[in-house]
Amino acid sequence: MLTKVHTGLDPVQGVWWKPAHKAEVIWVSVAFAWCIVLFAMMPLWHWKGGQNPAGVRSRVEPKAFYARTTEFAKQYQVGTDGGVPIAAPPPGADVYLVAMSFQWYPVLQLEQGKEYMLHLSALDVNHGFSLYPLNVNFAVVPGFDYALRVTPTSSGDFRIICNEFCGIGHHTMVGRVIVVDSTGAAVADNPDATIEHGGAL
Ligand code: CUA
Repeated sequence: MLTKVHTGLDPVQGVWWKPAHKAEVIWVSVAFAWCIVLFAMMPLWHWKGGQNPAGVRSRVEPKAFYARTTEFAKQYQVGTDGGVPIAAPPPGADVYLVAMSFQWYPVLQLEQGKEYMLHLSALDVNHGFSLYPLNVNFAVVPGFDYALRVTPTSSGDFRIICNEFCGIGHHTMVGRVIVVDSTGAAVADNPDATIEHGGAL
């Protein structure tokens, strides 16, 4: 006698066409309701989220931004780090940082607890501003000046990692931000270090 083989030609045996079990209906309803909650959170976070940068974007000519940045670096230069100028602007100043393949220019030295207007832009292609080891990330786009109000809340010696693939030297594109406290000392590797942008993070 031949064994019955399911060929797909005969209807499948089972109860799948009968109404769903009560428990299934409840769980599908719960999952759907949760989807709606998360969906509503998207616009809510957009307006109310503490992660939103308090910044303004404006168009800028990359060459003009670069010229402004080198002028800024020269004006407030206090030293050099590997050939890159270290700029120490006074609190409240407009601070310029330009990303280019494959460098961040200049090195910034800021004071803890003081607010600055940080202008970010790129000279050539898209780069990504990622402040290590903190969770601060911004896209750096040529042709746009991204101005952010930033207040460093902890002193330390921070690294800017490029987190947008920008070419062959992408992995070497590391910049530096030094935050000094009121005594003028930068506490390196502070595990509790945070940087606020727009006063809320
Ligand atoms: Cu710049 Cu990756």
